[in-house]
Amino acid sequence: MLLTDILEEELNSPTVFRDESKLSAAYVPSSLPHRASSLRDLVRLFLGVMKKPGEMSQQVTISGSIGIGKTALCKCFGKVLEEYAKTNNMNLHYIHVNCRRKKSRFLILREVVHHFNPTIPHRGYSPEELLHMLHHLLESQNIHLVLALDEFDFILRKKDASLLYDLIRWTDEHIDGIQRVSLILIVRDRVYLKELDVGTLSSLQNNHIYLAPYSAEQLVDILQERATDALFDFAINPEVLNLIADIASERGDARFALELLWRAGKYADRDRVTSIFPEHVRLAKGDIHPDLRKDIFQELSLHHQFVLLAIIRQLKKHDAAYTTTGDVETTYNIICEEYHETPRKHTQLWEYIKELEQLCLITTKLSGKGIRGKTTLIGLPDAPLFLLEKKLQNYLKECEK
Ligand SMILES: Nc1ncnc2c1ncn2[C@@H]1O[C@H](COP(=O)(O)OP(=O)(O)OP(=O)(O)O)[C@@H](O)[C@H]1O
Ligand SMILES: [Mg+2]
Repeated sequence: MLLTDILEEELNSPTVFRDESKLSAAYVPSSLPHRASSLRDLVRLFLGVMKKPGEMSQQVTISGSIGIGKTALCKCFGKVLEEYAKTNNMNLHYIHVNCRRKKSRFLILREVVHHFNPTIPHRGYSPEELLHMLHHLLESQNIHLVLALDEFDFILRKKDASLLYDLIRWTDEHIDGIQRVSLILIVRDRVYLKELDVGTLSSLQNNHIYLAPYSAEQLVDILQERATDALFDFAINPEVLNLIADIASERGDARFALELLWRAGKYADRDRVTSIFPEHVRLAKGDIHPDLRKDIFQELSLHHQFVLLAIIRQLKKHDAAYTTTGDVETTYNIICEEYHETPRKHTQLWEYIKELEQLCLITTKLSGKGIRGKTTLIGLPDAPLFLLEKKLQNYLKECEK
């Protein structure tokens, strides 16, 4: 069969999807069921800024576990804010920066300046110069900015909160003048915030929005709402929705629920049927462990991937529940050799392990007495090892091409 025939056949075969992009992680839905009160809280915190920009600025933190709508909530608020500013002829801007992608003070500042001046070159400026440039841009064009720093844990974990000091000090210094920068910090875990200095912390501590994991009932509503846009009318029934919600409610993770729905839809399409059956959901579940979702490896640097692979290999080799940092390091060095990469130093390796834990890919705990004194034990309780190893190795192979 020719490739064009296959393509033709696939394009013309029945599908459950009206528009599958509506289930993608990048899509920001226009309404967020069960987050209305959090959206209201956020709006209330910013009412002063919206009514009289310049007279006050605001600092807010949003926290909560993986996939529970922190980014979606903040982006929705951003949309509301920009629409309000437009209708009221205000020079109020919302910028959303993902700190996992823009991992340093320099990259974040460049992203913000780039928003106002897209011709700015990629190199050639120091963070101080960028900060100065931003200052000048805001003052000269009378701009007010609400800056959302998403996945800010990545910056805090690097113990580099200088950007935060810059921005908060900037606000403090303008106490009698015009306030121009408000901040929304989005974090999974507030624990790293505690390491900030007292002044910065007190500015951030007062306004905090915590998002709790979703219950199964709430996930049904969310799935229902997204399915209306993404799937044809009879493609899904309540039994299937409930099954997906039940599976995902263990973590209260909406992203996992939506990916299950998308994959189950793909299985229905594969079977050339026009609705999703429970068996498709089971197949989808077998395919994607919550720890194995498709974008997870893209989020990791090469050496994070090597460390993860080292942990998997160690656990597999000994059929053990936990392994130690020492053993992981030995295997990591061998993997680096396999892939012709220079191994990173011990301290860096430790950082990688902490970051993998933060991403909920692994767990760590201190050993009790007996195992070579006190040592950190690393476990991977949730994901099937063989599946994770296969996926990771395939991903590494793809990256090599
Ligand atoms: N209440 C909701 N209604 C509709 N969709 C939702 C809702 N909450 C979350 N989602 C969707 O679930 C997915 C995950 O949400 P989001 O990316 O906001 O999670 P997060 O809390 O930022 O996770 P992470 O910590 O991994 O960054 C997104 O596709 C988002 O649109
Ligand atoms: Mg997010």
